[in-house]
Amino acid sequence: MYTLIDGKKIASEIKREIAEEVIRLKKEGRKTPHLAAILVGNDGSSQTYVANKVKDCEEVGFRSSLFKYDADVAEEILLYKIGELNNDNDVDGFIVQLPLPDHINENKVIESIDPSKDADGFHPVNIGKMVIGLPGFLPATPYGIIELIKRYKIETSGKRCVVIGRSNIVGRPVSILLSQKGMDATVTVVHSRTKNLENIVKESDIIIAALGSPGFVRADMVKTGAVVIDVGTTRINAPETKTGWKLAGDVDFNNVAPKCSYITPVPGGVGPMTRVSLLRNTLEAVKMRR
Ligand code: GUN
Repeated sequence: MYTLIDGKKIASEIKREIAEEVIRLKKEGRKTPHLAAILVGNDGSSQTYVANKVKDCEEVGFRSSLFKYDADVAEEILLYKIGELNNDNDVDGFIVQLPLPDHINENKVIESIDPSKDADGFHPVNIGKMVIGLPGFLPATPYGIIELIKRYKIETSGKRCVVIGRSNIVGRPVSILLSQKGMDATVTVVHSRTKNLENIVKESDIIIAALGSPGFVRADMVKTGAVVIDVGTTRINAPETKTGWKLAGDVDFNNVAPKCSYITPVPGGVGPMTRVSLLRNTLEAVKMRR
């Protein structure tokens, strides 16, 4: 029998902890933590993420602001807004929701964020600090995954871990965090050019699937007793639902779960933890600034 990793439950616990801390901070006469978000265009997933982030902020007693722009917004307008948020003393942290439209240089946008307000941990300064193990903001999804592993007391030391996908926001950073002292996993990153990918996955004690391909990880690729963390959140057609779509993970859950020791569901696994990481980073930003 496998253990279902309940990200929603853990996220609620952490939100409660954050809410208590916010009350403490306010009692000490400190300001209300304030997280801002910039959203460009009409991408459905991005709108959902950002709407949820606003809701999360309300739940824990943070202030939140949302700045929306049309998909054809000029890059310099975005850069100007980022400059304003960098200089706004009331804003403790902010994020620019990705992906951005093709005409906007994503790297340039990320590099224009003040690293001390980079709640997403995407700025090269924060990535660099993460790589050498210095304190800084960790990217939200990897941070959430590590926290899930810790709270479920899943052993990582000496374990073979495969990360499927090498994105800047999930695959690469989570591979770095898992190999660091304290986590001590032996990590392999596999991607679209990897040879014998299926064999590498099959030999792994811990599988992190972060490629965005529904059902990619099949039961025959998974060793009995493996830990499976599914980061996929692809919208697929589902005429039976109210919205007409549902979220699909990268793992064929129904067939893979019976072989696992631990597995995350989609939705309700990694997703809620990503959102909570953002709140944790914002709180950290507040503390660092005072
Ligand atoms: N797009 C998908 N995931 C994320 C995230 O964690 N942060 C931002 N800013 N954009 C995303």
